[in-house]
Amino acid sequence: MSKYFITTYGCQMNVHESEKIAGMLREIGYDEAASYNEADVVVFNTCCIRDTAEKRAYGNIGALKGLKKENPSLIIAVVGCMTQQKGGAEALSAKFPFVDIVLGTNSLDQLPIILQNKRQKRTQIALHDDPTVDLSQELPIYRTSGTNAWVNIMYGCNNFCTYCIVPYVRGRERSRSMSEVVQDVKTVLSEGYKEITLLGQNVDSYGNDLADGTNFASLLREIDKIEGKYRVRFMTSHPKDFNKDVVDVIASSTHICHNIHLPIQSGSDSILKRMNRKYTSSQYLDIVNYIRSKMPDVGITSDVMIGFPGETEEDFQRTMDLVGKVKYSNAFTFVYSPRKGTPAAAMEQIPAEVKKSRITRLVKLQNDITKSLSNEYIGGIYEVLVEDVNPKYIGTVCGRTDSGRLVTMPGTPDLIGSFVSVKITKSRSASLFGEIV
Ligand code: SAH
Ligand code: SF4
Ligand code: F3S
Repeated sequence: MSKYFITTYGCQMNVHESEKIAGMLREIGYDEAASYNEADVVVFNTCCIRDTAEKRAYGNIGALKGLKKENPSLIIAVVGCMTQQKGGAEALSAKFPFVDIVLGTNSLDQLPIILQNKRQKRTQIALHDDPTVDLSQELPIYRTSGTNAWVNIMYGCNNFCTYCIVPYVRGRERSRSMSEVVQDVKTVLSEGYKEITLLGQNVDSYGNDLADGTNFASLLREIDKIEGKYRVRFMTSHPKDFNKDVVDVIASSTHICHNIHLPIQSGSDSILKRMNRKYTSSQYLDIVNYIRSKMPDVGITSDVMIGFPGETEEDFQRTMDLVGKVKYSNAFTFVYSPRKGTPAAAMEQIPAEVKKSRITRLVKLQNDITKSLSNEYIGGIYEVLVEDVNPKYIGTVCGRTDSGRLVTMPGTPDLIGSFVSVKITKSRSASLFGEIV
């Protein structure tokens, strides 16, 4: 039997798309390989959000040159966001002539057809440049994320934050119909998944393009009506669109987790303006306060970026102040990385050593906050969905609280997929430890 090996970079959207790639390959008779060496097809599902993500993919693709020489019948495919950048596909095939197939983000469905008909020696490229094109995304899915099932609610992004490449490589916002999404949720629940994560670059603008009155709040309300014991999470929210209706629906829901990823990016209003984020730090704080007034147990997480062009020490201090004020349960911290073709890449950049000093200070601040919030869990009893064994500690399993905190406790693999009550006994930075009660 032929075998595939997929390497995924980037966000949850990509992780889920790799499940679709696996789904398609399995449908035409492929099975998963344990490593590159055993594979007949190797797929790199790439990301170009930052230079580091691209470098990693370049390194790993380049490393297969030797294997391809030894085994010329090996097929190497590069898909995902890197291919969809301006000139990206051509650059990839020029740099790596041994790559057989390059597919754009809108052309994943072409993979089986190309594989089955592959005869040419040179790289075959399939790209769709129309950013509004309807994706043929109703692809078979081979789920690999344990107890969690990803469900796309929309594709693309219309926001054009000035630092970000996503709108260029993922096209305009396209929402799936509410009935399709609800059906998908029902299907995965009937398959036994206990947690659903709704995916979109900006879930709060869900429905804007449907013109039938549906929006994110009404979608959540509809999903919450489905009976059963399960959890719903979603990402990502945009502070400019995250409204009180959504908060109210979550607060009064049975299934939607009190866990909100609400990226701030910067605490400086002038930087936010130049990022084209369309909210101010005080508007952001108002939303956070409203969320907390309705859900005191909420876990709020964020993406925070330092080193945007023109960021002064004062701007950076505003970010530090805001992070200190909000007290995120966790935050992804990023160093700004210029992306070719985006407005911010043409602005005057700030020196690497300044970025380094700022990221170090920000990471320390957030680590201290996470640690002190972890301590607040000690002694409390929380419902945890057991997701996996924790390979770091023999005889333990791990899962998340409703608020999204990771908990490890003694337990056996048969608990995976069940909800348990856990008393938190200790914490170590972001991780909590406890016992099933
Ligand atoms: N749609 C989501 C996530 C987009 S990408 C959102 O709007 O929040 C995830 C994160 O990567 C962003 O939130 C941002 O913090 C970071 N990011 C995006 N472009 C970047 C760049 N050029 N350099 C560094 N970080 C970037
Ligand atoms: Fe990028 Fe902004 Fe769209 Fe998020 S909302 S994907 S940061 S352009
Ligand atoms: Fe990366 Fe594309 Fe996601 S650029 S972050 S994989 S949408």
